[in-house]
Formats: sequence, C-alpha cells, structure tokens
Amino acid sequence: MFFPDEDDMAIHKIIIAIDGYSSCGKSTTAKLVAAKLGYGYIDTGAMYRTVTLYFLENNISFTNPKEIEKALHNITISFHHNPKTDENETFLNGVNVEKEIRKMYVSNQVSEVSAIAEVRHAMVAQQQRMGKRKGIVMDGRDIGTHVFPNAELKIFMTADVNLRAFRRQQELLAKKQLVNLEEILQNLQHRDQIDTTRKESPLIQAPDSFLIDTSYMTVDEQVDIVVGMAQTQMLAPVM
Ligand code: DC
Repeated sequence: MFFPDEDDMAIHKIIIAIDGYSSCGKSTTAKLVAAKLGYGYIDTGAMYRTVTLYFLENNISFTNPKEIEKALHNITISFHHNPKTDENETFLNGVNVEKEIRKMYVSNQVSEVSAIAEVRHAMVAQQQRMGKRKGIVMDGRDIGTHVFPNAELKIFMTADVNLRAFRRQQELLAKKQLVNLEEILQNLQHRDQIDTTRKESPLIQAPDSFLIDTSYMTVDEQVDIVVGMAQTQMLAPVM
C-alpha cells in the first residue's frame, strides 16, 4: 500500500487559468476564487484595455509596427488595491484608468488592439513575470494555452451570448452607464469573432481545461466548482 509522506501532501501554490468568451463571468469568478484561496488576481483583459486607451488617447496607428513598439515602451500598467471598494484598480503610467477602460468606446476597439502581435508579446511577458511565484488566478483568453500552458488548473468558460449581453448591460448600469442591449450584443459578437479567429494566440479551449457553461449557474456555484477543483490540485503531489 502507498502512503504519501507529509511533504507530498503539503498544500502548494498553483496557477489557475480562467479563459473564455467576453462577459461570461470570468472576472467575477476569478476575483472571488482568489479571495477564497488568499491568491492574487490578475485581470489580463484590463491590460489590453489599458493599451487600447493609450493608443486612442495618443492617436497611435493600429497598423504601424514602429509606432506601436515605441508606444509600448511608454506604457506602464500596474494594479493597486483600493481598500474602500476592496477591488484592484488599473493604473496607466500612474493614473487610475479603471473606470475609463470599461467604457464602450474602449470595448469597441480592444479586440483590434489585442490582435496586434507586438501588443500581445509585451503583455504576455508581463503576465508571465506576474505569475512566476504562483498563487494566482489569471483570467483572459490565452492564459491556459499560451501564457501558462503548464498551469495546474485550467478553466474554460462559456455562456449563451444573449445572457452574456444582458449581464453586461446590468454591470454597466451598476456603473451608471446606460447602453442599449443590441449595441452590447453586437460588441460581444464582434469581439468573439476577432478573439477566436486572430492569428496570434486566438481564444480556443485548451484540451486539458475544464469547460464550465455559466448560462444557468449562480456566481456562488461557479466559485464553488473552481475552488473545489483548485483544492484538489493544491494537494496533488508536485510532479
Ligand atoms: O476580459 P475583457 O472583456 O476585459 O477583455 C477585453 C479584450 O481583451 C477581449 O475582447 C480580448 C482581449 N484579451 C485578449 O486578447 N487576451 C487576454 N488574455 C485577455 C483579453
């Protein structure tokens, strides 16, 4: 009979990669899972949104690689915890851009910007540095396939697009932004199309990921499933 010794059974830190379509609950789930496990949370979509904001504010051409490379050198993205809201907020060159990057004019351009190879290389390098010490939950589109292909736990989330649009509308309303449902639906469909068909690390389900369809699930259910799977992985012997 095999009895694992104490070291084998020790809880170790893992990387949890949560990928999937826009607005199917990735960030909400990732944030709560991180809080329950005492892990860090990294919203990689916020990083692509921040680059998009910089490009728009500085009239950077999306098709000029030299201009893009130069711009990327001038961008520093950081996350800071806001104790009042208990949320991480995104900063661009020291300025809080958390609210601005969630606006529709940024959402309308972010998939184009995140399909640019130079942008992806810069963001992926930064994300890999952030996750080096493990103990993180990272959500995005290519985390399990590209950023951390060896992540111990990979989740792929999906949901009915009409329900995603409705949820997104509610989220924006909570932030006092009233946006027409049809406009949101079109934006989600447009982003899904670009995110899944781009040349550079497109959104695809990693073969070793777990698929979760959140269409008819509560947030608590989503979180419990992921936390349960994470705890199993945290106890698994390190290979
Ligand atoms: O998660 P989000 O909706 O805030 O992401 C915004 C966009 O950023 C999304 O449409 C695609 C892009 N993105 C990406 O290409 N790779 C990631 N890892 C995260 C986001």
